[in-house]
Amino acid sequence: MKPILDGTVEVHSYLGPDDERTLADDVLDGLTRPLKELPPKHLYDARGSELFDAICELPEYYQTRTERLILATHADEIAARTGAVELVELGSGSATKTRVLLDAMARAGTLARYVPVDVSATTVHAVAELFTDEYPGLAVYGVVGDFERHLGHLPAPAGPRLVPFLGGTIGNFPPGSRRRFLRSLRTTLRSGGFLLLGTDLVKDPNRIEAAYNDSAGITAQFNLNVLHVLNRELGATFDVDAFEHVAFYDRRRQWIEMRVRATAPQHVRVEALDLDLDFANREEMRTEISAKFTPKRLRADLAAAGLELVETFTDAEELFAVSLARVA
Ligand code: SAH
Ligand code: TRP
Repeated sequence: MKPILDGTVEVHSYLGPDDERTLADDVLDGLTRPLKELPPKHLYDARGSELFDAICELPEYYQTRTERLILATHADEIAARTGAVELVELGSGSATKTRVLLDAMARAGTLARYVPVDVSATTVHAVAELFTDEYPGLAVYGVVGDFERHLGHLPAPAGPRLVPFLGGTIGNFPPGSRRRFLRSLRTTLRSGGFLLLGTDLVKDPNRIEAAYNDSAGITAQFNLNVLHVLNRELGATFDVDAFEHVAFYDRRRQWIEMRVRATAPQHVRVEALDLDLDFANREEMRTEISAKFTPKRLRADLAAAGLELVETFTDAEELFAVSLARVA
């Protein structure tokens, strides 16, 4: 039965003054290590989210268009098999591929609610407004928050729930945290819910490296933007022009590693933290990893998190995979 949610729209934010503290904590913790490092969520301020959207359109970035094609091919089947009345989308961003799923649910006559969850406030607000207009009667419950910390604030399920986690974002967790995170989703899935997980697949390393070293230099701008975030949010003094973008595929670990590298020795003051940092010439700071998967690794990670793989959909070239899973 389709619940009556009557097209309401609301956006709740769980990021506040508190969260500057997370950025501060992450800087204190990550930038004082022997190999400097920051969690990737700080890449996505308003400008970062815009740049990421531009990445998705790049000829080298095969991920987005491949995932969209896989979704378009199987959306009706996914809607029918899950019977979902709501989507709770993790790291929804500008949710361009989500329409494919919403349209299929609308055709199936089950579509009632969309719940985008993202740390990027601008994208959650934009998507809430856009989808409320585009899908008359759709209830939108936006959550501006961290999917590692705020999933306890989700509304109670409106009925069978589908949880898309697209774009290969799961690959941005280190392997141990990845399993812990998948395990934590068991609560979000409740009884009968399904996870729809997008993962980039292991393939020719040249193809992968090109996707993170585009010729237009958009990925470089996106990666280096995190230094602007630190300057703005914490009063840091990074000379952004004196850093360069680095992305390489680690063949043994089967992940892409993104770093920013100082092109000269640099002293950085982080005013808000009363912290002084030094970068040696060519010293790097890791900003993200992006793991690539094999079907075997996918199944093992899901199983270790107490999830059962129902089906994996892929494209003809097996570049990318979209997997449907449920609580085992
Ligand atoms: N789903 C979209 C966007 C992927 S980019 C797509 O497939 O194209 C990753 C998204 O996850 C960004 O919008 C970013 O803001 C969000 N994100 C990253 N870390 C997050 C976290 N810890 N909590 C919530 N959202 C996060
Ligand atoms: N989740 C995306 C991925 O791993 C994020 C991404 C794409 C990214 N290009 C990037 C992150 C460049 C940092 C730098 O593919």
